[in-house]
Amino acid sequence: MIREAPLLLALLCRLLSLVPSSMGMEVMVPATIYALNGSSVQLSCTFSSCYQVEKKQFSLNWTYQGCRNCTEEKFFQFNQKIFPVENNRFGSRIEFTGNPTKNDVSFTLHDVQLEDEGAYHCYVTNPPDRHKGHGRISLKVITEEPPERDSTVAVIVGATVGGFLAVVILVLVIVKCVRRKKQQRLNTDDQKTEEEGKTDGEGNPEDGTK
Ligand SMILES: *[C@@H]1O[C@H](CO)[C@@H](O)[C@H](O)[C@H]1NC(C)=O
Ligand SMILES: *[C@@H]1O[C@H](CO)[C@@H](O)[C@H](O)[C@H]1NC(C)=O
Ligand SMILES: *[C@@H]1O[C@H](CO)[C@@H](O)[C@H](O)[C@H]1NC(C)=O
Repeated sequence: MIREAPLLLALLCRLLSLVPSSMGMEVMVPATIYALNGSSVQLSCTFSSCYQVEKKQFSLNWTYQGCRNCTEEKFFQFNQKIFPVENNRFGSRIEFTGNPTKNDVSFTLHDVQLEDEGAYHCYVTNPPDRHKGHGRISLKVITEEPPERDSTVAVIVGATVGGFLAVVILVLVIVKCVRRKKQQRLNTDDQKTEEEGKTDGEGNPEDGTK
């Protein structure tokens, strides 16, 4: 028992060191979201907290960061209720679609533009939880044209070539079969008196001449 004491202590310490992080706020966000320009996309951010959300103390900010060391621009904040920051870069394209009392502070970005690409930060505090929750989403905007057209063309070309080849092969097989059958019938008709084995022998040279 005494020999195992250090081990137990180490284990206990490790367990204790885990506790604070699991007691603080955990923010869940997708790391990367791909959105088509012109489409609407939900940037979801949910959190877990040991305490019920109290509107008087709860605090939330969403910020946008256009590049790695750009300053973050706040566009959503919370003061008893969620409201968009005045003159934010997105204008009326942002719509809050979460529900803080259900630990959801997601929002939807409408009519996604190429310039919307960047990092979106979700900050939440929920006193008396002392930790400040933070989630970061990287939004990538894609234009539907290049990837889709490429794959469609590839599929069409593939299907066409594949279909064409299949038809050609099928036709060849049918033609060959029909010919062979005809030949065999002719052969058997002509040489009814001959034995079956010889018919096959005559059929093969016919194929060779094609
Ligand atoms: C998406 O972006 C491309 C390139 O900028 C543009 O041509 C296209 O019109 C855009 N589509 C929408 C729906 O905004
Ligand atoms: C961002 O970082 C780059 C290189 O790390 C630097 O050259 C540039 O000045 C920085 N910009 C700002 C606004 O800090
Ligand atoms: C949100 O921004 C306000 C003002 O800058 C700040 O006082 C507050 O602490 C922020 N809240 C969070 C959760 O980051």
